[in-house]
Amino acid sequence: MASDVLKTRRDFLVVTGAAGAGLLLAGCSGEEKKRAADLISAPERLMRQHGVLSRLLMILEESLRRVDAHMELPLEVIPGVVEVVQNFVQMHHEKQEEEEIFPLLANNDKLVGLIAVLKAQHRAGREITARILEYSSTAALKELETRRKLNSEVRQLARMYRAHSNREDTVLFPALDSAVTAAQYRALSAGMTQKQQQAPGDGAFEKTVERVAALEKLVAMDDLAGFSPDAS
Ligand SMILES: [Fe+2]
Ligand SMILES: [Fe+2]
Repeated sequence: MASDVLKTRRDFLVVTGAAGAGLLLAGCSGEEKKRAADLISAPERLMRQHGVLSRLLMILEESLRRVDAHMELPLEVIPGVVEVVQNFVQMHHEKQEEEEIFPLLANNDKLVGLIAVLKAQHRAGREITARILEYSSTAALKELETRRKLNSEVRQLARMYRAHSNREDTVLFPALDSAVTAAQYRALSAGMTQKQQQAPGDGAFEKTVERVAALEKLVAMDDLAGFSPDAS
């Protein structure tokens, strides 16, 4: 019985992996593409969202570098990043983790402490981003003391969110494998896909990635080749 459950889940994951790599999408009709999207697992969807967060943190760090180097920084960049962090990461991504992932793992004694820290860090992230927004106005940035505070807040946020998402990717999400049945796993993944497709505003992944790309362009981070070793 247990091996049947594992086999079913493994089959599902194999198909999901192929879909994630785009192997099933080439030449598919719209309906077939929709079905491939339906197979994206809940952890894969959340890890894609972590990728968005990682890109946002890089933009914030580049913004700080520009402020420190007295380089041009379009005023909309930091507030734009904060807006996406608040609407997509905090109100959409973290809400899904707290409502749909954490409860499934609440009975795992080994994860109780980790989940408590993750929840506390979600709250801390909201407080820090509010302060970053406050310190990033034109008037505030003229003050050396405010620039120092902004620097400190961004560094704390980036340090915390990187450790946080890494721990979720490598410890929390893999723990789902033994915590839920294949049927629960499929229901969780399908529900998350449906919510993302119906999510208003910044809940939509593709739209959010486009917004992030536009912010990257404002600080000349839009060309990936610019990050290659021979380009520096
Ligand atoms: Fe989280
Ligand atoms: Fe997360």
